Amino acid sequence: MYRTHTCGELRLANAGQEVTLSGWVQRSRRLGGMTFIDLRDRYGITQLVVEATAEQSLVEAASSLGREYVIQVKGKVVERQSKNPKMDTGDIEIIVSSINVLNKSVTPPFTIEENSDGGEDIRAKYRYLDLRRPPLQKALALRHRLAQEIRSYLDKEGFMEIETPYLIKSTPEGARDFVVPSRMNPGQFYALPQSPQTFKQLLMVAGYDRYFQIVRCFRDEDLRADRQPEFTQIDCEMSFVEQEDVLNTFEGMMRQMFRNAIGVEIPNPIPRMSWYDAMDNYGSDKPDIRFGMTIHEITSLVQGHGFSVFDSVPYIGAIAVPGAADYTRKQLDELTEWVKRPQVGAKGLVYVKYNADGSVKSSVDKFYTPEEVKSMAEAAGAVPGDLVLVLCGQKRKAQTMLGVLRIEMGNRLGFRDPKVFAPLWVVDFPLFEWDDETNRFYAMHHPFTAPKPEHLDWYYSDRKEDLERVCANAYDFVLNGTELGGGSIRIHEAGMQERMFEILGISKEEAEYKFGFIINAFKFGAPPHGGLAFGFDRVCALFGGQETIRDYIAFPKNNQGRDVMIDAPSEIDAVQLDELCLDIRKHE
Ligand code: AMO
Repeated sequence: MYRTHTCGELRLANAGQEVTLSGWVQRSRRLGGMTFIDLRDRYGITQLVVEATAEQSLVEAASSLGREYVIQVKGKVVERQSKNPKMDTGDIEIIVSSINVLNKSVTPPFTIEENSDGGEDIRAKYRYLDLRRPPLQKALALRHRLAQEIRSYLDKEGFMEIETPYLIKSTPEGARDFVVPSRMNPGQFYALPQSPQTFKQLLMVAGYDRYFQIVRCFRDEDLRADRQPEFTQIDCEMSFVEQEDVLNTFEGMMRQMFRNAIGVEIPNPIPRMSWYDAMDNYGSDKPDIRFGMTIHEITSLVQGHGFSVFDSVPYIGAIAVPGAADYTRKQLDELTEWVKRPQVGAKGLVYVKYNADGSVKSSVDKFYTPEEVKSMAEAAGAVPGDLVLVLCGQKRKAQTMLGVLRIEMGNRLGFRDPKVFAPLWVVDFPLFEWDDETNRFYAMHHPFTAPKPEHLDWYYSDRKEDLERVCANAYDFVLNGTELGGGSIRIHEAGMQERMFEILGISKEEAEYKFGFIINAFKFGAPPHGGLAFGFDRVCALFGGQETIRDYIAFPKNNQGRDVMIDAPSEIDAVQLDELCLDIRKHE
């Protein structure tokens, strides 16, 4: 038997017992002839003591131990003289009677402790060592717990877990596909699924009326803190449901996850907000509603006073930053530069300081009387002591910039406490987005999303204004400013689907080539259905109070999409290329 207990298990009640432990040597130090060793496994750390009076061979064995050696020790549990209340096992230590080195270790490139001394790159290269550290073990344990909660809830609700293939054809999610060449079909490629979207709909046609899968998805897109090229979805689909049924089912799942995994009660019901309100008030389709600082339109109030910047745009909006009227000139200049960065894209920033004594000072004092400036501030929701920030431009673009600024100010003022959870359903999305560059409509979700039944007249109208007004039967689950999930009620009727392709400018031939299999399947009795998918990595990270998902994935990729541990992607040899009938062109 390698061990009788784990390294996190022994307490004062075990004092007097003879035990066997196995684990990794975190550190070893000599003090007055005694050797103290911290022995670690994923359950915790136990202090071992080799006494000065122990046999010479044991003292020598103890002093030859290096960091990360794997050892087995036998010994007696005793109460500690100087207890360590910070450690679960801090009341006891083991008086060692034998040490068996199971394996040596070369010196690790960084210390394996709560806070490592290794930089990002080196830890990524030795991910298996980084994974020995408690913060990452905690993250993966949370991920495991959440996966169990999801399975238990969905099983109880009658969902069947069904796997779908990874080697498929392009999916309609709109990112770039990763492709895999086919040796048996030279010149042809599989695409890795961006999601199992089409398969889950086919499962509905097949009668599996409640499906789920915790499934890997692949998207070749630019990476960010909350994006990985391969990530995991909690993917779900249901038949004979309306939007309300889907939202209720998954509110239940989220509630169970919050309660059982992290002991948090979320609001019941979870609030809902239309996409239009989200954009108008928060400048984002994934509003962080942990704090206010909402956007107020002040267009009509401020136009017509000779300030040409305001007079030449269709929209002017403002936010009131609480208690920030004392921002200095330097801070305001810095903020102005900040909004001009390409990531925000504003041309400039107008401010109003609504001072605590009720006086006002603004960057546009020249064009407005103090009373007018004050009413501008009040229209933005400001009270004395606040700083009002104003941006203008095309409506949605200016709102989006204000939304980014709002989040930035929320961060600066500490309004975004990761331990506070504010879930939200965003509903009533527009079905289509018009793109000026290509002069055509795009599906805001994907082309299988159904229009709201009450908007069918507009859906079949030929007027652009009508089509722009059509809302989708779609919904996103948002938590603390992050889109955790999204889905929709699907089109299940051939004529409505054809109309969708027509609006999107997808020809019959193209639709047939891309989605022929699903269009065909729908001719055989497709039930009304809908569903959604949550980004599981994001769920884990937010539950754990983090914004980056990387620590919640055992073996993630870096920002260049590389796995630096296994060094992938990498070139393949000539024989493999030949079998695949592929030639590599020099990359310029
Ligand atoms: P969608 O494209 O919105 O919907 O994806 C669902 C959720 O997956 C997460 N997500 C990601 N997480 C990490 N890295 C990525 N690159 C990444 N991309 C997306 C997000 C997102 O909310 N088939 C539809 C769902 C449906 O309609 O049922 C779909 O995939 O949290």
